[in-house]
Amino acid sequence: MGKPTILVTGANGQLGRELNVLADAYPAYHFIFADRAALSVDDRQQVDAFFATHQPAWCLNCAAYTAVDKAESDQEAAFRINGDSPGWLAAACRRHGAKLVHISTDYVFDGRSSTPLKESDPTSPINVYGASKLAGEQKAMNDHPDGTVIIRTAWVYSEFGNNFVKTMIRLMKERPVLKVVDDQIGSPTYAADLAAAILRIVGSPRFVPGIYHYSNEGRISWYQFALAIRDRIGSACNVQPIPSSEFPTPAKRPQYSLLDKALIRDTYQLIIPGWETSLSACMARLD
Ligand SMILES: NC(=O)c1ccc[n+]([C@@H]2O[C@H](COP(=O)([O-])OP(=O)(O)OC[C@H]3O[C@@H](n4cnc5c(N)ncnc54)[C@H](OP(=O)(O)O)[C@@H]3O)[C@@H](O)[C@H]2O)c1
Repeated sequence: MGKPTILVTGANGQLGRELNVLADAYPAYHFIFADRAALSVDDRQQVDAFFATHQPAWCLNCAAYTAVDKAESDQEAAFRINGDSPGWLAAACRRHGAKLVHISTDYVFDGRSSTPLKESDPTSPINVYGASKLAGEQKAMNDHPDGTVIIRTAWVYSEFGNNFVKTMIRLMKERPVLKVVDDQIGSPTYAADLAAAILRIVGSPRFVPGIYHYSNEGRISWYQFALAIRDRIGSACNVQPIPSSEFPTPAKRPQYSLLDKALIRDTYQLIIPGWETSLSACMARLD
């Protein structure tokens, strides 16, 4: 028998690329990194054909429609990619005896909590993206309940793609003053840490299906995150706190996104880095 195959969908995104960075450290597996051109997850026939050809033992679904504001006026695509395709991937995994790790978001919550969000807390998305991701969670769990792990994460950044950290670094070089929202609370997630957590689940002797929460440890606002980025690049940019009401966007954002990570930590014996350590690690790779 050959090595078990791990299929990574959406391989050109932040998380997909961080998994690619780590893959060499997992020689017991054969990885297939499929970007959108290789496998469009919102084409059910393509999904089924891909599984029939490659017979993966695991599917790590990093593909998603992540343009949160655009989703407000592009509901159909958001729901097809985020809502329907996780169900198709889950069904394909079930038929082929594979396991699915699907990634979801804190945006399934309305942000009105004042205590860290647990997996069992009631969901109530306040934008199209969140609603589409919640639909995807439900379809994946319905189609393959015994073989699916869903990880809700938040505020993802990495050295790859577009994200808050890279945008802040660029703007701090361009502008003398920067206003950043100070009334949205959460904890960022370095995609490299999430990738490592996912591979820990893959390698775990005990697979426990279900929904889990993962971000880095700590509790900050976007403004505080921006200050930490500024400190690390030694910028003189004047970073000022503003309320969300001064930064209107097409999609509403939850005010409170802090995830309770106890379940994933205990079930899969994870050590989750604090956001400051991980921010430094990412920024060292950006140099
Ligand atoms: N970024 C965040 O702050 C954040 C927060 C919470 C949860 N999440 C979740 O975390 C996961 C990973 O996010 P990320 O930041 O790595 O996202 P990302 O960088 O936007 O990557 C998503 C990837 O999915 C691909 N994709 C889109 N539609 C596809 C399709 N139909 N078939 C195949 N691939 C498709 C995209 O390709 P194209 O570039 O060609 O479109 C892109 O490469 C997602 O499930 C996301 O919802 C992200």
